[in-house]
Amino acid sequence: MSKKIIITGGAGFIGSHVVRLFVTKYPHYDIINLDSLTYAGNLHNLKDIENSKNYRFIKGDITNEDFINELFNEIRPDGVIHLAAESHVDRSIKDPLAFAKTNILGTMILLNAFKNLWDNNWENKLFYHISTDEVYGTLGEDGLFTEDTSYSPNSPYSASKASSDHFVRAYGETYDLPYVISNCSNNYGSFQFPEKLIPLFINNIINNKPLPVYGDGNYTRDWLYVIDHAIAIDLIFHEGATTETYNIGGFNEWKNIDLVKLLCQQMDEKLEREKGTSEQLITYVKDRPGHDLRYAIDASKINKYLGWKPSVTFEEGLSKTIDWYMVNSEWLENVNSSAYKDYYENQYE
Ligand code: NAD
Ligand code: DAU
Repeated sequence: MSKKIIITGGAGFIGSHVVRLFVTKYPHYDIINLDSLTYAGNLHNLKDIENSKNYRFIKGDITNEDFINELFNEIRPDGVIHLAAESHVDRSIKDPLAFAKTNILGTMILLNAFKNLWDNNWENKLFYHISTDEVYGTLGEDGLFTEDTSYSPNSPYSASKASSDHFVRAYGETYDLPYVISNCSNNYGSFQFPEKLIPLFINNIINNKPLPVYGDGNYTRDWLYVIDHAIAIDLIFHEGATTETYNIGGFNEWKNIDLVKLLCQQMDEKLEREKGTSEQLITYVKDRPGHDLRYAIDASKINKYLGWKPSVTFEEGLSKTIDWYMVNSEWLENVNSSAYKDYYENQYE
């Protein structure tokens, strides 16, 4: 069956992988990539599919209500896959209002436009909201986040995502809007903006710059290869049950400091540097305020009901990711722009 799907945030890191998967796998769908191209959005991420017949890019801001209403009336999307967001915790600490605007208000404007467009004719319609494991707050040394873990966000970013999740559910309860939500752990892979841990550290190792580890480095994250996230999103969009939440994770917990050491080892080999060279760049810096100690996902529900599991080991995924950044040095140079330099200097002083 043919479908029109608006994917928001499709020029970003995860969004570009989702757009590519849908455009190539479903030639009979119309895929509309709606993105305002903030610092994190980059159309170079989609060069390989930009001329596909079933693909169209529209530059626009999800917080512009009139524009979104007009667009929904023109396109009449059967589905929305909503990834557009301000996504970086450190930036949310510096500018929380920007996160409330895009992540909460932007999500509400999309929900409202979808509700008004279909006016209760919900057959074969779906609003799929992409969220994060950070809404659950932090774990101690033990335990895993399940779909029933209560929300306890600690950063302006996670609070804004938690709020948007609540609005999606509220539109489901109040207006019967068909929705599904997934909450995923930390992604890594190609096309990730180098302000997040893994691409930042790859970039710095290449350029022999310090590797700024926050606090004592004993914070734990659960890492997932971005293509496995895109595959999970495809499965949930097509086979997930409406009004359900699915947790997605890598079954792959790493303390930051251990991850950084593994990255250093792999990069020393690839750059043909003497063993131990990159580790010397590790520099412990001031901690992130409100830093969550540990995230870890119980992804047994999506595994049990949709048969999903990660397809690559972390060592393989990390190696492929490093190779991608080394081969695509031009992409990295382009995003290392003056605006990015300003952010970097301000963040790490
Ligand atoms: P990203 O920052 O790389 O990309 C976000 C995209 O949204 C960019 O292309 C940006 O231009 C666009 N955008 C931002 N504000 C917009 C606006 N007002 N209107 C239209 N477009 C706008 O983010 P990402 O890492 O790819 O994350 C995508 C989604 O997945 C987010 O909702 C995020 O919360 C969620 N998520 C991310 C991770 C992760 O590890 N990166 C993990 C779990 C969930
Ligand atoms: O858990 C999912 C979340 O993962 C997503 O919702 C977010 O959009 C995504 O940005 C990511 O959030 P994190 O804050 O976990 O990712 P980040 O890469 O910023 O940091 C990962 C860990 O590394 C975290 O414990 C902070 C630490 N860190 C990060 C940076 C940028 C450092 O020690 N030094 C750094 O310079």
